[in-house]
Amino acid sequence: MKQDQLLIAIKNLKTYFFLDEGTVRALDGVDFDIWRGQTIGVVGESGCGKSVTARSILRIVPRPGRIVDGTITFYRRLHDNGAGQIEEIDLTKLDPTGPEMRNIRGAEIALVPQEPMASLSPVHTIGNQICEAIMLHQKVGKEEARVKAIEMLDRAGFPQPKQRIDSYPHQLSGGLRQRAVIAMGLSCHPSLLIADEPTTALDVTTEAQILRLMRSLQHDLGMAIMFITHNLGVVAQMCEDVVVMYMGRIVEEAPVDDIFHNPKHPYTQALLRSIPRLGQKTKERRQLESIRGTVPDPYTRPRGCAFHPRCTQRIRGVCDQTEPPWLEVEPGHKVRCVLYG
Ligand SMILES: Nc1ncnc2c1ncn2[C@@H]1O[C@H](COP(=O)(O)OP(=O)(O)O)[C@@H](O)[C@H]1O
Ligand SMILES: [Mg+2]
Repeated sequence: MKQDQLLIAIKNLKTYFFLDEGTVRALDGVDFDIWRGQTIGVVGESGCGKSVTARSILRIVPRPGRIVDGTITFYRRLHDNGAGQIEEIDLTKLDPTGPEMRNIRGAEIALVPQEPMASLSPVHTIGNQICEAIMLHQKVGKEEARVKAIEMLDRAGFPQPKQRIDSYPHQLSGGLRQRAVIAMGLSCHPSLLIADEPTTALDVTTEAQILRLMRSLQHDLGMAIMFITHNLGVVAQMCEDVVVMYMGRIVEEAPVDDIFHNPKHPYTQALLRSIPRLGQKTKERRQLESIRGTVPDPYTRPRGCAFHPRCTQRIRGVCDQTEPPWLEVEPGHKVRCVLYG
């Protein structure tokens, strides 16, 4: 891809939580890029560092966590028209509560969280909240902000936005709340939308509607989406490229078809074996292979490859001793495993 299409480059990112019980290395050297307009899936079991990656980019890692190493370079376009200069900003160097970061958060990089109530205030109407977001980042007055808010709600498939814009969050279903959050996230035309398990709290029908909505918005508005999920089925529907995380590191990165049809890392292979397939009988489903063992406790990363204690293909004396290298096995397909060295 052309270098001027690069949007975010994450290099050797380390985010630790300093607890009394020990240090949690939530991110322990994360590397990946996000390109303009790309839909990139971030997958892995619970606790592998997906949300902390999102929070690190947005600079909203809660205490006692902090970024201890690495860079997150944001390539900001200075003009909206596509042409023109690009400014490089290392987000890890910004004050998380300072004006520059506050301006980037929301206007350039927006978040749709798992639970919509996490980003909605219960005491304000959704209309007021979306208008606030628009007025904070764009030079428009109240009237114009309201027109834009109605437009965004309409785009987000929110029914009768003109009439229902003055609803309070508690008056809406989970699906409508999530549409309102998406409308708020998109109201400033961000170049990156981070969706962190955005449909996990919804029923399957509503999930399907929200996924369809995000696909069409992505198609129309052309922003990049970083789609976080533990659900590989959702990745297959949503993403062009996938990064697989395990214990705070990326272990595989590839176009979505390669992840499904030609997975290299034993962890990715195990994740794929653990998804139920359509048409599978209930009995077979019960016998689905789950990945053996559990994720080690987060204070102690196993020596060598962090996955080796659970890996069926581990090589004694190698995988438990040496850090696996990050190898490009095919163009665009990278894996962190000695089997391919
Ligand atoms: N606020 C916090 N305090 C302490 N540890 C945390 C905090 N948030 C996340 N962690 C730890 O960081 C690791 C990664 O968590 P997270 O990114 O939330 O995982 P997930 O992939 O499920 O989103 C986990 O071990 C988790 O326990
Ligand atoms: Mg999470």
